[in-house]
Amino acid sequence: MASNSSSSRFPLMTMLFSLFLILGIALYVVLYQGTTVINLKPHMRAIGSMFIAPPPPKPKPVKRVTYYNRPPWISQHVFDTCDDRCEMISSSNYKNSDAVVFHAPDIHMGTPLRKYRGQTWVFHAMEPPFLIPSFKNWKRLFNWTLSYRRDADLFNPYSTFTRRKDVGNKDTQHIIRWENKTRNLGWIVSHCGIESQRLKYVEKLKQTIDVDAFGRCGKLHCPRGQWQECLERYKFYASFENALCIDYITEKSFRVFERNVDSIPVTRGAPDYSMFLPPGSFVNTRNFSSSRNLGTFLKRLSDDKPTFMTYFKWRHYYKAEDQIDSKMGFCELCRRLHNPTQKYRRLYEDIDEWLRQGSLPRRSCRPVIDII
Ligand SMILES: *[C@@H]1O[C@H](CO)[C@@H](O)[C@H](O)[C@H]1NC(C)=O
Ligand SMILES: *[C@@H]1O[C@H](CO)[C@@H](O)[C@H](O)[C@H]1NC(C)=O
Ligand SMILES: *[C@@H]1O[C@H](CO)[C@@H](O)[C@H](O)[C@H]1NC(C)=O
Repeated sequence: MASNSSSSRFPLMTMLFSLFLILGIALYVVLYQGTTVINLKPHMRAIGSMFIAPPPPKPKPVKRVTYYNRPPWISQHVFDTCDDRCEMISSSNYKNSDAVVFHAPDIHMGTPLRKYRGQTWVFHAMEPPFLIPSFKNWKRLFNWTLSYRRDADLFNPYSTFTRRKDVGNKDTQHIIRWENKTRNLGWIVSHCGIESQRLKYVEKLKQTIDVDAFGRCGKLHCPRGQWQECLERYKFYASFENALCIDYITEKSFRVFERNVDSIPVTRGAPDYSMFLPPGSFVNTRNFSSSRNLGTFLKRLSDDKPTFMTYFKWRHYYKAEDQIDSKMGFCELCRRLHNPTQKYRRLYEDIDEWLRQGSLPRRSCRPVIDII
């Protein structure tokens, strides 16, 4: 009897033990969820996934940015192609934004807007200082500057050069029609540039070399949208800025690089052009002690086809890309909002001081001294 009863109790114990074991494993799998499933061997993982759904991927956070007075040339979708996620939210809701951008040339407010806790305020200016109203009352509000100036927090020049992916590809090498180059210096200008006195400079230059001026400041007419055709006959292109200010090079100067126009740019402005343009691709008026020396140099170059051609060599290696839509600056803004570190923390005591650089000799614009 005794042996009989003990033999019948054994299977019961085994069954109970197995039941606890299975419950234990199930509990373990449930408690440790995803991590266990990932560590399991492939054939086990298939069993595991029957019970547990993989955790959903964490959505990347979106930073909210308000462009308070967005000009038409800045798209509402300016962040769409950035690596980090930012969304543009309306001005009426700027209170809830992480960052607020102001288009400085169009802000005419005596008293500043209210700044909410933790917000990053951005001063956006692509115009020279004399076209920007006073910000004397906006003390200790702006964190970052977005501008063509190299010392801006978010640097965005009008154009940038990048190395070509197709270096050496014969198909991209374009033929310069020397036989078409019958004129010397071409200038296309719609406003005369009072600040830089470029009209006066050209008058002086005309004493040594022929200059053809198209547009409102000249005698010739170039049909709208045909500036490339108008320049075809010219060996040189006058890239004279309307203002002589730090780092200020506009699209008027860059566009001959972007469109591969076969005229050598002759630059006149305040920047250190070697920081922006490829070496050997331009002639700088500042390199000459007088307009007469410049004229003589250009005349000599206009008769020297082999040297003339060397000014276009850069094209085999680089290409110029328009940055006017400011995506470059805005994507960097978005990136910094997502990566706040001590080195990006900043607050401008007086943004006007940054803009105008106060008194001499740190003036942000140069006086005209080359009309000799
Ligand atoms: C340039 O040259 C080509 C051929 O040599 C000619 O067809 C074209 O009309 C010329 N353009 C100008 C503006 O002279
Ligand atoms: C400026 O002058 C120097 C010395 O003559 C010359 O090497 C350089 O290429 C010139 N640069 C430009 C942009 O004209
Ligand atoms: C921007 O300025 C505010 C003070 O107005 C400050 O609290 C915040 O930390 C600053 N942000 C950055 C990125 O410097």
